Amino acid sequence: MSNSALKRPVVFVGMMGSGKSAVGSAAAKILGVPFVDCDKEIEASAGMSIASIFSEFGEARFREAETQALNRVLQGPPAIIAAGGGTFMNEKNREEIGKHAISVWLKVAPDTLWQRVKHKTTRPLLKTPDPHGTLVNLLREREPIYAKATLTVCSEQECSVQTTASRVAERLLAKSAEFGIF
Ligand code: S3P
Repeated sequence: MSNSALKRPVVFVGMMGSGKSAVGSAAAKILGVPFVDCDKEIEASAGMSIASIFSEFGEARFREAETQALNRVLQGPPAIIAAGGGTFMNEKNREEIGKHAISVWLKVAPDTLWQRVKHKTTRPLLKTPDPHGTLVNLLREREPIYAKATLTVCSEQECSVQTTASRVAERLLAKSAEFGIF
């Protein structure tokens, strides 16, 4: 399963901790296609970390940079793209993704997400007095929107990155003719 030419970008959406970057890059390797991490694009073009963008300029400025980075990568050579967890919440971003790409929601149970993010300090949205409650509320609010993605792939706690990536790659290949992916 390598060196398939991607005709349309594939954008991974889902909560922080769902594994968009890890699974996205592993799926890209399996399929032999490029991988782009949107959060890294934002950091490279701003020359600062996402946490610093939030603390120095606020969330609204971060969301503008996020939309600009998304549009740039959507216009680049087709790749598997890991979007930040909030990217798909913005209607305009969803429209652009729908116009140019296939979206894949990596659906992960709340407990698993929490286990993965609870010790990390890189997520400004979770710097609250009750980060677990914040995560659960965000998930409740966002799930109906993530569910609008073209494909949903569930990743259980016991699933390795490689297993989930293979699952995504198989789904993309199976849906290729329907959505003009390869
Ligand atoms: C965010 C998720 C983060 C990052 C920023 C905001 C969100 O990306 O873009 O901290 O709104 O859920 P990851 O989903 O890659 O952690």
